[in-house]
Amino acid sequence: MYKKGLVFWLTGLPCSGKTTISKKLKKYLKNKSESVQRLDGDILRKTISKDLGFSKKDRIKNIHRVAYLAKILADNGVNVIVALISPYQKSRDFARKVCPNFIEIYVKCSIEECKRRDIKGMYEKALKGKIIDFTGVQDSYEEPQNPEITIDTEKLSTEDDLKIIINYLKK
Ligand SMILES: Nc1ncnc2c1ncn2[C@@H]1O[C@H](COP(=O)(O)OP(=O)(O)OP(=O)(O)O)[C@@H](O)[C@H]1O
Ligand SMILES: [Mg+2]
Repeated sequence: MYKKGLVFWLTGLPCSGKTTISKKLKKYLKNKSESVQRLDGDILRKTISKDLGFSKKDRIKNIHRVAYLAKILADNGVNVIVALISPYQKSRDFARKVCPNFIEIYVKCSIEECKRRDIKGMYEKALKGKIIDFTGVQDSYEEPQNPEITIDTEKLSTEDDLKIIINYLKK
């Protein structure tokens, strides 16, 4: 039987470390000759979800699209790494139902530290009111209730982030 891929679903506040971890994990899996596709919110928002905004309705639609995309890839043997804020538990639960081998990874970082990092200057814009629907400032982020993995990026190095995922895979 053809083996289905894993779906690593990285969720967390802006600047928590989703993209950073997803790239590291991709490199690790590639080195193991696994096929892998990264689905990053920043890229998806410029492509398949170019038509969507950041209202709750549009955010949910975006998460559902990414879930279906991840499913199609995973069903065909591709390991998928999703890096998406995906702020709502209900939407992540939807993705869990849709995708085979779903691994929810909570990329945990305090809002204070995320604001300090502010690598794209988005928190600053949101705090000044130049963006009105930014997660962590005006929009809510619902912490995962039962993630398979939690990675505290405030306490760990990026090397240790990866070790936590590898340890989980070994179990
Ligand atoms: N342990 C860690 N894991 C991941 N990132 C870390 C860690 N420690 C510090 N960082 C830093 O935090 C920042 C995280 O940025 P990154 O783009 O990965 O966030 P993101 O969650 O993808 O944000 P966004 O939702 O805006 O795309 C990077 O500058 C990274 O170097
Ligand atoms: Mg990112």
